[in-house]
Amino acid sequence: MKILIIGKNGQLGKSINKIVLKNQNPNQFIFASREDLDLSISNSIIKYFNTNQFDIVVNCAAYTAVDKAESEEREAEILNHIAVQEISLLLKNKRTKLIHISTDYVFDGEAKEPYEESDTPNPINVYGNTKLLGELAIINNMPKNALIIRTSWLYSEFNVNFVTTMLRLSAERNQLNIVSDQISAPTYAADLAKTILTITQNETFIKLNQPTQIYHYSNLGSCSWFDFAKKIFELANINCKIIPIKTKDFDSQAKRPLFSIMNKDKILNTFDLNISNWKESLNECIKEIIKTT
Ligand SMILES: NC(=O)c1ccc[n+]([C@@H]2O[C@H](COP(=O)([O-])OP(=O)(O)OC[C@H]3O[C@@H](n4cnc5c(N)ncnc54)[C@H](OP(=O)(O)O)[C@@H]3O)[C@@H](O)[C@H]2O)c1
Repeated sequence: MKILIIGKNGQLGKSINKIVLKNQNPNQFIFASREDLDLSISNSIIKYFNTNQFDIVVNCAAYTAVDKAESEEREAEILNHIAVQEISLLLKNKRTKLIHISTDYVFDGEAKEPYEESDTPNPINVYGNTKLLGELAIINNMPKNALIIRTSWLYSEFNVNFVTTMLRLSAERNQLNIVSDQISAPTYAADLAKTILTITQNETFIKLNQPTQIYHYSNLGSCSWFDFAKKIFELANINCKIIPIKTKDFDSQAKRPLFSIMNKDKILNTFDLNISNWKESLNECIKEIIKTT
């Protein structure tokens, strides 16, 4: 099979590439960067998909700057909604399966139990709203042949994310204030990458004309940003004082859900996965970071 990964230089794209380079895989992978396929230009998307044919397209590209999206709504909308709308319209009549990545930020955080795929989204920031519009575009245009994975608090050894930011800040400051009243589940991008690759080899997924599905995926367990930071410093053996603070005392442009843990039963049962606890996966990531520095 010919598999296209959009978002070559993002943390999820790089995590998929790392696994593909390390392992034997019967499939052919093409990794597209912004230079190969600019999702902000409609003609670039049309030309790309009219001249290339794929069995599976995995869209890891997105506008992911949650705070900046509040003042750059149009840019976020173009990438997270319009481009996804165009891709799904172009793929709907082809024999191509689409895997698209979405977010826990489609929810408002008012739930008391982990969110299920059937729960009603109600985004409270621009990023979450544009990602929800992307999901809806896929569901409308491709009622068959697509799969949407919502994930939360994605981090990796690559690029800028909560883990790499904490490690950088700990070298610059003696003390950090970290929000302790937002609860979710971190997701190691390498684990999500492995899961995506498992899905691309699943016989039921590969079959054409299967109904489009949404799945929730993160590592197991849950924590606050404060707990997450504490564990990062413990595993990296870093002595940095952290002070728990409330969301209301943290200056940020976008509102964030206070609770966005997602129930993973559907993906676990459908694809027979083993998902690690977030602390184990964080340990793996810290080891990767230490190895490369
Ligand atoms: N990060 C999180 O905490 C988080 C949480 C939940 C869900 N998600 C979702 O998970 C997915 C992967 O996130 P990530 O953290 O890996 O993202 P990321 O590291 O921010 O990467 C985003 C990718 O999008 C690409 N991109 C941006 N503008 C583009 C354009 N005009 N044309 C083509 N490509 C463009 C970027 O390319 P360049 O490298 O060239 O800029 C980059 O490869 C996204 O769908 C995101 O919404 C992320």
